[in-house]
Amino acid sequence: MFRPAERTKNYNYAIRNIVAAAKAVEAEGRSVTYLNIGDPVLYGLQPPAILQEALARAVREGHNGYAPSVGTLAAREAIVQEAERRGVYLSPEDVVISSGASEAADMVLSALLEPGDDVLTPCPTYPLYTAITAKLGARENYYRLDPEQGWLPDPDEIRDRITPRTRAIVIINPNNPCGAVYDARLLLELLTIAEAHGLVVIADEVYCRLTYGPPPPPMAQLAAGMDVPVVTLESLSKSHLVPGWRVGWMTYTNTQRFGEVIAAVRKIAEARICSPLPTQQVLPVALENQSHLPSLIEEMKLRAAITVEALNAIPGIRCIAPQAAFYAMGQVADLKGQTDEAFVLALLRATGVLFVHGSGFGLNPHDGFFRIVFLPPPGTLREVYARLASFVQQR
Ligand SMILES: Cc1ncc(COP(=O)(O)O)c(C=O)c1O
Repeated sequence: MFRPAERTKNYNYAIRNIVAAAKAVEAEGRSVTYLNIGDPVLYGLQPPAILQEALARAVREGHNGYAPSVGTLAAREAIVQEAERRGVYLSPEDVVISSGASEAADMVLSALLEPGDDVLTPCPTYPLYTAITAKLGARENYYRLDPEQGWLPDPDEIRDRITPRTRAIVIINPNNPCGAVYDARLLLELLTIAEAHGLVVIADEVYCRLTYGPPPPPMAQLAAGMDVPVVTLESLSKSHLVPGWRVGWMTYTNTQRFGEVIAAVRKIAEARICSPLPTQQVLPVALENQSHLPSLIEEMKLRAAITVEALNAIPGIRCIAPQAAFYAMGQVADLKGQTDEAFVLALLRATGVLFVHGSGFGLNPHDGFFRIVFLPPPGTLREVYARLASFVQQR
């Protein structure tokens, strides 16, 4: 037997791992409603026609070769302009185009972390961060998002968690899996902590275009003039309904003491050659044409309201209202001695509805949380929540 490397042991991505159980249910001839993954295309949404046409045109016009490793100048300039619209002033040298925000996270953490370092990571988390730190022999240093405070972090707890090996803090705002949005005051406090302790801020703002109310200020804007490097991660995946195109980027703010890390990221970017060129060609078109967003946000807001109302109407279940994106955390009060994963699997087998257990995001398996992706149309959602209600009542 060939043995896999030790580092893969902690490499888990529950959102996809749980699909095996759903496939087993399908193999019995039953249908499954997948509410596990944040892919709008799976639920019938498609990118605006202007983007589809821009991608086809890029291919037709011959943009099929390799791109520069950090991305084409035109794509990076489009991002500089988009950042400016959000009050962040960059130059194209501050931008790296990546295959989704995921690759950007991987590149910057790979450039930054030594084995044994730790990264302040929200809990519940988006599992990509735990997977990357595990791969690098580093450690996630979880700070808690408090459901009783609308899933906000506590700056004092974060301060207490800092160790001599803490190198960075990941801030996911708007948040997946909770749907929380942090305000400027909280963000500034987090920046101040990072500055005082010499941490790099990894600002995951993948959902910044999908808030139901006014968007929070970008961390890079708030950090202007401070001595704290901010690496912002963004992508078109969700806001432009193109997760399969794998087009994302990162930007650097406050680079005065960050030049060597930037050079290391560039080496990593060069070794993986580039992210896909045709989709880079689409980036300027995508960022100048965002008129689909208001109706998309209205749709998500409606589905969030249906979700929160339906869940809170089930005795023994609660759900804290999300403020952005298309995720909500439900909680079952009485697990009857089970783990959250056993609850989710039992629900799947009894009703054909697939959620993801909270422990897949780092939560305590006995706390009873589960994440719902509420992307399907309202009729499907109502049906799903009716099945959840009868399952909970009959347990
Ligand atoms: C918080 C967060 N960050 C990053 C990503 C990665 O997105 P992508 O690599 O498609 O840009 C996701 C995807 O679900 C996410 O939810």
